[in-house]
Amino acid sequence: MPSCLTAPYDATDIPGMGHPVGGNAGSEGMATNTYSLNHGMIDNQQAQAAQHYADNFGKPGFHDAEQMYIAQNYEGYSAENQTTWTTLFDRQMEYLAQNASDVYLSGAKAINLRRDRIPPVKDINARLQPLTGWQSRPVPGYIPAMGFFACLSRREFPTTIVIRPADSIDYLPEPDIFHDIFGHVPLHADPVFSDFLQTYGQAALNTDDEAHTERLARLFWFTVEFGLIEEAGRLKLYGSGLISSPGEARHALTSAEVERRPFDLETVCETTFEIDHYQPILYVLESFQQLRDAMETYANRLLT
Ligand SMILES: [Fe+2]
Repeated sequence: MPSCLTAPYDATDIPGMGHPVGGNAGSEGMATNTYSLNHGMIDNQQAQAAQHYADNFGKPGFHDAEQMYIAQNYEGYSAENQTTWTTLFDRQMEYLAQNASDVYLSGAKAINLRRDRIPPVKDINARLQPLTGWQSRPVPGYIPAMGFFACLSRREFPTTIVIRPADSIDYLPEPDIFHDIFGHVPLHADPVFSDFLQTYGQAALNTDDEAHTERLARLFWFTVEFGLIEEAGRLKLYGSGLISSPGEARHALTSAEVERRPFDLETVCETTFEIDHYQPILYVLESFQQLRDAMETYANRLLT
Protein backbone atom coordinates (compact mmCIF):
# COMPACT_ATOMS: atom_id res chain seq x y z
CA MET A 1 0.00 0.00 0.00
CA PRO A 2 1.74 3.14 -1.15
CA SER A 3 0.33 5.78 1.11
CA CYS A 4 -2.25 6.62 3.65
CA LEU A 5 -1.89 9.34 6.14
CA THR A 6 -5.54 10.12 6.28
CA ALA A 7 -5.58 8.21 9.50
CA PRO A 8 -3.16 5.80 11.06
CA TYR A 9 -5.25 2.78 10.40
CA ASP A 10 -5.95 0.33 7.72
CA ALA A 11 -7.48 -3.07 7.51
CA THR A 12 -4.14 -4.68 8.15
CA ASP A 13 -3.61 -2.74 11.36
CA ILE A 14 -6.85 -3.26 13.16
CA PRO A 15 -9.30 -6.05 12.42
CA GLY A 16 -12.60 -4.67 11.31
CA MET A 17 -11.30 -1.20 10.61
CA GLY A 18 -11.19 0.18 7.13
CA HIS A 19 -8.70 2.20 5.23
CA PRO A 20 -9.72 5.84 5.19
CA VAL A 21 -10.17 7.42 1.83
CA GLY A 22 -8.73 10.76 0.97
CA GLY A 23 -10.36 11.77 -2.28
CA ASN A 24 -13.94 11.25 -3.20
CA ALA A 25 -15.16 8.45 -1.03
CA GLY A 26 -18.33 8.22 -3.04
CA SER A 27 -19.66 4.89 -4.14
CA GLU A 28 -19.47 5.93 -7.77
CA GLY A 29 -15.71 6.02 -7.61
CA MET A 30 -14.96 2.72 -6.01
CA ALA A 31 -15.33 0.49 -9.01
CA THR A 32 -12.17 1.63 -10.72
CA ASN A 33 -8.69 1.64 -9.36
CA THR A 34 -6.54 2.85 -12.19
CA TYR A 35 -4.84 5.69 -10.40
CA SER A 36 -1.14 6.11 -10.03
CA LEU A 37 0.54 8.77 -8.02
CA ASN A 38 3.75 10.36 -9.21
CA HIS A 39 5.81 7.95 -7.21
CA GLY A 40 8.94 8.98 -9.06
CA MET A 41 9.14 11.78 -6.50
CA ILE A 42 9.51 9.26 -3.70
CA ASP A 43 11.42 6.60 -5.61
CA ASN A 44 14.79 7.18 -4.02
CA GLN A 45 17.01 5.90 -1.26
CA GLN A 46 15.98 8.49 1.29
CA ALA A 47 12.33 7.61 0.86
CA GLN A 48 12.99 3.89 1.04
CA ALA A 49 14.98 4.28 4.24
CA ALA A 50 12.30 6.48 5.77
CA GLN A 51 9.57 4.02 4.84
CA HIS A 52 11.55 1.15 6.32
CA TYR A 53 11.91 3.12 9.53
CA ALA A 54 8.19 3.94 9.62
CA ASP A 55 7.26 0.33 9.02
CA ASN A 56 9.29 -0.69 12.05
CA PHE A 57 8.57 2.29 14.26
CA GLY A 58 8.21 1.34 17.92
CA LYS A 59 10.39 -1.75 17.67
CA PRO A 60 13.78 -1.74 19.43
CA GLY A 61 16.04 0.79 17.71
CA PHE A 62 13.17 2.53 15.90
CA HIS A 63 12.03 5.35 18.17
CA ASP A 64 13.18 8.51 16.37
CA ALA A 65 10.25 9.99 14.44
CA GLU A 66 12.63 12.25 12.56
CA GLN A 67 13.87 9.24 10.60
CA MET A 68 10.46 8.84 8.94
CA TYR A 69 10.62 12.21 7.22
CA ILE A 70 11.89 13.05 3.75
CA ALA A 71 12.47 16.11 1.61
CA GLN A 72 9.62 17.39 -0.57
CA ASN A 73 11.80 17.51 -3.72
CA TYR A 74 9.63 20.30 -5.04
CA GLU A 75 11.19 20.33 -8.49
CA GLY A 76 9.68 16.88 -9.05
CA TYR A 77 6.21 18.32 -9.64
CA SER A 78 5.23 18.55 -13.29
CA ALA A 79 3.23 21.34 -14.92
CA GLU A 80 0.30 18.92 -14.98
CA ASN A 81 0.68 18.39 -11.22
CA GLN A 82 0.50 22.13 -10.65
CA THR A 83 -2.59 22.46 -12.80
CA THR A 84 -4.23 19.62 -10.87
CA TRP A 85 -3.69 21.47 -7.61
CA THR A 86 -5.21 24.68 -8.96
CA THR A 87 -8.21 22.88 -10.43
CA LEU A 88 -8.89 21.07 -7.17
CA PHE A 89 -8.39 24.23 -5.14
CA ASP A 90 -10.70 26.37 -7.25
CA ARG A 91 -13.60 24.00 -7.45
CA GLN A 92 -13.56 23.21 -3.76
CA MET A 93 -12.77 26.58 -2.20
CA GLU A 94 -15.75 28.27 -3.79
CA TYR A 95 -18.06 25.86 -1.99
CA LEU A 96 -16.08 25.94 1.22
CA ALA A 97 -16.24 29.73 1.47
CA GLN A 98 -19.88 29.34 2.45
CA ASN A 99 -19.87 25.87 3.94
CA ALA A 100 -16.63 25.23 5.80
CA SER A 101 -16.02 26.05 9.44
CA ASP A 102 -14.77 29.57 10.05
CA VAL A 103 -11.88 27.96 11.90
CA TYR A 104 -10.86 26.09 8.75
CA LEU A 105 -11.18 29.18 6.57
CA SER A 106 -9.21 31.34 9.01
CA GLY A 107 -6.55 28.66 9.18
CA ALA A 108 -6.30 28.46 5.39
CA LYS A 109 -5.74 32.21 5.30
CA ALA A 110 -3.28 32.10 8.19
CA ILE A 111 -1.05 29.54 6.46
CA ASN A 112 -1.44 31.35 3.14
CA LEU A 113 -2.96 28.38 1.35
CA ARG A 114 -2.68 29.41 -2.29
CA ARG A 115 -4.46 28.35 -5.44
CA ASP A 116 -1.67 28.98 -7.89
CA ARG A 117 0.74 26.21 -7.00
CA ILE A 118 1.31 23.14 -4.86
CA PRO A 119 2.42 24.48 -1.50
CA PRO A 120 6.08 24.16 -0.64
CA VAL A 121 5.82 22.60 2.80
CA LYS A 122 8.50 24.93 4.17
CA ASP A 123 6.34 27.93 3.27
CA ILE A 124 3.33 26.44 5.07
CA ASN A 125 5.46 25.73 8.11
CA ALA A 126 6.91 29.24 8.17
CA ARG A 127 3.35 30.47 8.77
CA LEU A 128 2.09 27.59 10.87
CA GLN A 129 4.90 27.06 13.32
CA PRO A 130 4.68 30.48 15.02
CA LEU A 131 0.91 30.10 15.45
CA THR A 132 0.65 26.73 17.17
CA GLY A 133 4.02 25.02 17.00
CA TRP A 134 2.67 22.51 14.49
CA GLN A 135 4.54 21.50 11.37
CA SER A 136 3.75 19.55 8.26
CA ARG A 137 6.44 16.93 7.62
CA PRO A 138 6.79 15.13 4.27
CA VAL A 139 6.76 11.33 4.43
CA PRO A 140 7.29 8.67 1.77
CA GLY A 141 4.00 6.84 2.10
CA TYR A 142 1.74 5.04 4.48
CA ILE A 143 2.84 5.49 8.07
CA PRO A 144 1.66 2.66 10.32
CA ALA A 145 -0.20 3.50 13.50
CA MET A 146 2.63 3.81 16.02
CA GLY A 147 4.68 6.11 13.83
CA PHE A 148 1.66 8.22 12.98
CA PHE A 149 0.76 8.65 16.66
CA ALA A 150 4.35 9.56 17.47
CA CYS A 151 4.28 12.33 14.86
CA LEU A 152 1.05 13.79 16.21
CA SER A 153 2.38 13.70 19.75
CA ARG A 154 5.28 15.90 18.51
CA ARG A 155 2.89 18.37 16.87
CA GLU A 156 3.99 17.15 13.46
CA PHE A 157 1.66 16.03 10.70
CA PRO A 158 2.97 13.32 8.37
CA THR A 159 2.17 14.69 4.95
CA THR A 160 1.91 12.96 1.61
CA ILE A 161 3.81 14.98 -0.98
CA VAL A 162 2.63 13.34 -4.19
CA ILE A 163 -0.49 14.54 -6.00
CA ARG A 164 -3.10 12.60 -7.92
CA PRO A 165 -2.72 12.39 -11.72
CA ALA A 166 -5.00 14.54 -13.82
CA ASP A 167 -6.99 11.56 -15.05
CA SER A 168 -7.87 10.62 -11.47
CA ILE A 169 -8.77 14.11 -10.36
CA ASP A 170 -12.26 13.12 -9.22
CA TYR A 171 -11.37 10.06 -7.30
CA LEU A 172 -8.36 8.79 -5.46
CA PRO A 173 -8.44 5.90 -3.02
CA GLU A 174 -5.54 7.19 -1.00
CA PRO A 175 -4.52 10.55 0.39
CA ASP A 176 -2.38 12.90 -1.63
CA ILE A 177 -0.97 16.34 -0.92
CA PHE A 178 -4.30 17.94 -1.73
CA HIS A 179 -6.05 15.88 0.92
CA ASP A 180 -3.28 16.27 3.48
CA ILE A 181 -2.42 19.95 3.06
CA PHE A 182 -5.69 21.42 1.79
CA GLY A 183 -7.86 19.07 3.86
CA HIS A 184 -5.99 18.78 7.14
CA VAL A 185 -3.39 21.45 7.74
CA PRO A 186 -5.51 24.64 8.00
CA LEU A 187 -7.04 23.36 11.25
CA HIS A 188 -3.56 22.93 12.69
CA ALA A 189 -3.34 26.72 12.80
CA ASP A 190 -6.07 26.74 15.45
CA PRO A 191 -4.75 26.48 19.01
CA VAL A 192 -7.74 24.50 20.29
CA PHE A 193 -7.94 21.95 17.49
CA SER A 194 -4.19 21.53 17.39
CA ASP A 195 -4.09 20.85 21.14
CA PHE A 196 -6.78 18.23 20.64
CA LEU A 197 -4.76 16.56 17.91
CA GLN A 198 -1.59 16.39 19.98
CA THR A 199 -3.47 14.98 22.96
CA TYR A 200 -5.01 12.42 20.63
CA GLY A 201 -1.55 11.37 19.45
CA GLN A 202 -0.18 11.16 22.98
CA ALA A 203 -3.10 9.06 24.17
CA ALA A 204 -2.95 6.73 21.19
CA LEU A 205 0.82 6.36 21.42
CA ASN A 206 0.69 5.41 25.05
CA THR A 207 -2.00 2.80 25.03
CA ASP A 208 -1.22 -0.76 24.02
CA ASP A 209 -4.79 -1.90 24.49
CA GLU A 210 -6.20 -2.88 21.10
CA ALA A 211 -9.76 -2.04 22.14
CA HIS A 212 -8.73 1.50 23.01
CA THR A 213 -6.82 1.84 19.77
CA GLU A 214 -9.90 0.81 17.84
CA ARG A 215 -12.03 3.30 19.75
CA LEU A 216 -9.51 6.03 19.01
CA ALA A 217 -9.57 5.09 15.34
CA ARG A 218 -13.30 5.73 15.28
CA LEU A 219 -12.81 9.03 17.05
CA PHE A 220 -10.30 10.10 14.40
CA TRP A 221 -12.64 9.06 11.62
CA PHE A 222 -15.71 10.87 12.89
CA THR A 223 -13.88 14.07 13.83
CA VAL A 224 -10.59 14.70 11.99
CA GLU A 225 -11.78 13.03 8.80
CA PHE A 226 -15.55 13.47 8.68
CA GLY A 227 -16.50 15.96 11.36
CA LEU A 228 -19.22 18.59 11.17
CA ILE A 229 -19.60 21.59 13.47
CA GLU A 230 -22.42 23.99 14.17
CA GLU A 231 -21.45 27.64 13.86
CA ALA A 232 -23.93 30.49 14.27
CA GLY A 233 -26.83 28.09 13.83
CA ARG A 234 -25.49 26.56 10.62
CA LEU A 235 -23.90 23.21 9.91
CA LYS A 236 -20.34 23.57 8.65
CA LEU A 237 -17.65 21.19 7.43
CA TYR A 238 -14.33 20.65 9.11
CA GLY A 239 -13.32 17.00 8.59
CA SER A 240 -10.59 16.68 5.98
CA GLY A 241 -12.38 13.88 4.10
CA LEU A 242 -15.27 16.30 3.57
CA ILE A 243 -13.17 19.40 3.01
CA SER A 244 -11.21 17.72 0.22
CA SER A 245 -14.14 15.93 -1.45
CA PRO A 246 -16.67 17.96 -3.46
CA GLY A 247 -19.18 15.14 -3.64
CA GLU A 248 -19.17 14.08 -0.04
CA ALA A 249 -19.02 17.66 1.24
CA ARG A 250 -22.38 18.43 -0.32
CA HIS A 251 -23.82 15.07 0.68
CA ALA A 252 -22.77 15.58 4.29
CA LEU A 253 -24.53 18.91 4.58
CA THR A 254 -27.65 18.37 2.52
CA SER A 255 -28.58 14.71 2.10
CA ALA A 256 -31.64 13.44 3.93
CA GLU A 257 -29.91 10.07 4.08
CA VAL A 258 -27.29 11.30 6.55
CA GLU A 259 -28.00 10.97 10.25
CA ARG A 260 -26.33 13.92 11.96
CA ARG A 261 -25.83 13.19 15.62
CA PRO A 262 -24.65 15.55 18.34
CA PHE A 263 -21.05 14.80 19.25
CA ASP A 264 -20.52 12.62 22.28
CA LEU A 265 -17.10 11.05 22.62
CA GLU A 266 -18.29 7.78 24.13
CA THR A 267 -20.94 7.33 21.45
CA VAL A 268 -18.45 8.15 18.69
CA CYS A 269 -15.98 5.61 20.02
CA GLU A 270 -18.64 2.93 19.81
CA THR A 271 -19.77 3.78 16.27
CA THR A 272 -18.37 1.61 13.51
CA PHE A 273 -17.83 2.89 9.99
CA GLU A 274 -17.33 1.68 6.47
CA ILE A 275 -15.09 3.36 3.96
CA ASP A 276 -16.46 2.47 0.56
CA HIS A 277 -19.46 4.77 0.41
CA TYR A 278 -20.60 8.15 1.67
CA GLN A 279 -20.90 8.19 5.43
CA PRO A 280 -24.47 7.61 6.64
CA ILE A 281 -23.73 8.85 10.18
CA LEU A 282 -21.88 12.05 11.02
CA TYR A 283 -21.24 13.77 14.35
CA VAL A 284 -21.72 17.48 14.93
CA LEU A 285 -19.55 19.44 17.36
CA GLU A 286 -20.83 22.41 19.32
CA SER A 287 -17.30 23.83 19.31
CA PHE A 288 -13.71 22.71 19.06
CA GLN A 289 -13.41 23.31 22.80
CA GLN A 290 -15.94 20.53 23.25
CA LEU A 291 -13.69 18.19 21.26
CA ARG A 292 -10.50 19.24 23.03
CA ASP A 293 -12.04 18.91 26.48
CA ALA A 294 -13.56 15.52 25.75
CA MET A 295 -10.21 14.30 24.44
CA GLU A 296 -8.37 15.56 27.51
CA THR A 297 -10.78 13.77 29.80
CA TYR A 298 -10.46 10.57 27.79
CA ALA A 299 -6.67 10.79 27.65
CA ASN A 300 -6.41 11.33 31.38
CA ARG A 301 -8.50 8.25 31.93
CA LEU A 302 -6.43 6.20 29.48
CA LEU A 303 -3.06 7.29 30.75
CA THR A 304 -3.59 7.06 34.51
FE1 LIG B 1 -7.03 12.47 6.12
